[in-house]
Amino acid sequence: MARHLITSAIPYINGIKHLGNLVGSQLPADLFARYQRARGNEVLFLCATDEHGTPAELAASKAGQPVAEYCAQMHEVQSKIAEGFCLSFDHFGRSSSPQNHALTQHFAGRLADAGLIREVSEKQMYSLADGRYLPDRYIEGTCPNCGFEDARGDQCDNCTKQLDPTDLINPRSTISGATDLEKRETRHLYLAQSQMRDQLQTWVDSKTDWPVLTTSIAKKWLNDGDGLQDRGITRDLAWGIPVKKGQDPWTGMEDKVFYVWFDAPIEYIASAQEWHDAGKGTDWERWWRIDKGAEDVIYTQFMGKDNVPFHTLSFPATILGSGEPWKLVDYIKSFNYLNYDGGQFSTSRGRGVFMDQALEILPSDYWRWWLLRNAPESSDAEFTWDLFQSNTNKDLADVLGNFVSRVTKFCRSKFGEIVPENGTWGYQEEALIAELNQRLRAYESFMEATEVRKAASELRSIWVAGNEYLQAAAPWSTFKQDPEKAAGQVRLALNLIRLYAVVSSPFIPDACARILAAMKTDDTSWPNDVKSDLKTLPPGHAFAVPEVTFRKITDDEREEWKTRFSGTHA
Ligand code: 2FM
Ligand code: ZN
Repeated sequence: MARHLITSAIPYINGIKHLGNLVGSQLPADLFARYQRARGNEVLFLCATDEHGTPAELAASKAGQPVAEYCAQMHEVQSKIAEGFCLSFDHFGRSSSPQNHALTQHFAGRLADAGLIREVSEKQMYSLADGRYLPDRYIEGTCPNCGFEDARGDQCDNCTKQLDPTDLINPRSTISGATDLEKRETRHLYLAQSQMRDQLQTWVDSKTDWPVLTTSIAKKWLNDGDGLQDRGITRDLAWGIPVKKGQDPWTGMEDKVFYVWFDAPIEYIASAQEWHDAGKGTDWERWWRIDKGAEDVIYTQFMGKDNVPFHTLSFPATILGSGEPWKLVDYIKSFNYLNYDGGQFSTSRGRGVFMDQALEILPSDYWRWWLLRNAPESSDAEFTWDLFQSNTNKDLADVLGNFVSRVTKFCRSKFGEIVPENGTWGYQEEALIAELNQRLRAYESFMEATEVRKAASELRSIWVAGNEYLQAAAPWSTFKQDPEKAAGQVRLALNLIRLYAVVSSPFIPDACARILAAMKTDDTSWPNDVKSDLKTLPPGHAFAVPEVTFRKITDDEREEWKTRFSGTHA
């Protein structure tokens, strides 16, 4: 049994995420976690809310709430929505947890002891109008790298370059819009990641199996002159993890907190500790410490492309620099962006479908299936309502749903709601079994390789094979001359429904659970040999015709939703 540690990039606390956020990290991570569990492997799947930094402070002040209260409330909201999408985290933590405070301060102490933290006296942007420093998202301006006009002080969303507020051209305060900004001297801590260039280079070079998207971004920043420059890991903010050296005070840093991007990835580790401390698991170090049993753990991270530099450079620098035997990531799966109907999803303009709204209009499986089937892997992808309607109607209703409903209803009408006795299988059945065996092996290798689109397409072919068999075998005609043969066909098809529910469950867990319940089985064993797996439900086994598995999206609904989601999410 393999052991898989799986993390999804932790979403910012500032509001409900849109479908583009979902498909870039949490959803494919869930797909992988569910698949690995279904294969009988041991899985620890972690996520959390990213609660520090300017995004949290800005959102809380907009909501008119104290930031701690805002974060607690939004954590609950995000957690409920994650449940709604059947995201099967073993723990959904909080980067503001006491565990993350202690661990972040611990890492800072270790890095300082290793000589990897420098104190730097630097100029920061101070706003006279706002009476405060303007770190990160408190400031916006034109990106010096690509000319994008709304680049934030910490990163350009257009070209993904990590920035400093002082780099911006024509900077403005995002609090007041003020442009009367001045550079003031202040002291900050810098992580000397440039000293680790060789170590990081060797590590990234050793990852020959990573997706091109991940390595191309990592290598770009490694080889780019300033991609690996030392970066400030402290901020002049009130909310965050107080700067300490382990448990000791850090002279001169009393009013500062760690930068959100320093503590956020450390939350991957702290989340395991939270999981343990909440009594959900016994030994978190077994997943994270090489010296305490994690040497055989396979660690996979999922994230959008804008997060790659932090996960291939800064976070590994923290881990390696600590000199302690923490588990480093083995595989980083990254995603391009999902666009929305001819433009971008926009949180600020409420453009596109947000996770709460999606669940209001349709069950999670519709969204899961469409998003994963069209995951932005090799390039950006686009959500359109026409494509959403046609893909889900065809794949879920016409192919999978139709198979389930036809087989169970036909069986009920001729043999009753039990798996029929007798009947033999001939060349048609043998051909189907051979095809399914072959396709299942292909499906497994795509799932292992986190090739999400290819896996979805193979799964769809597995469904199609069943439909084509049914069409060709036509038990409704066979029944007239040879009821026994028809019984054999129906018995196979009923068993195929169970097999479908098992292998499709990582994509559409909710519907699959309902199908298994209707088939009155909790045998979820993975098909290794289709011929014997299609005998799991024995003759005489009772089932019930399931409620409509997937209904079709109508043209009226499609048009209504097109209008409704053009830009209004509150
Ligand atoms: O881009 C984001 O949504 C960040 N909150 C991701 C953080 S991932 C990690 F490092 F914790
Ligand atoms: Zn840019």
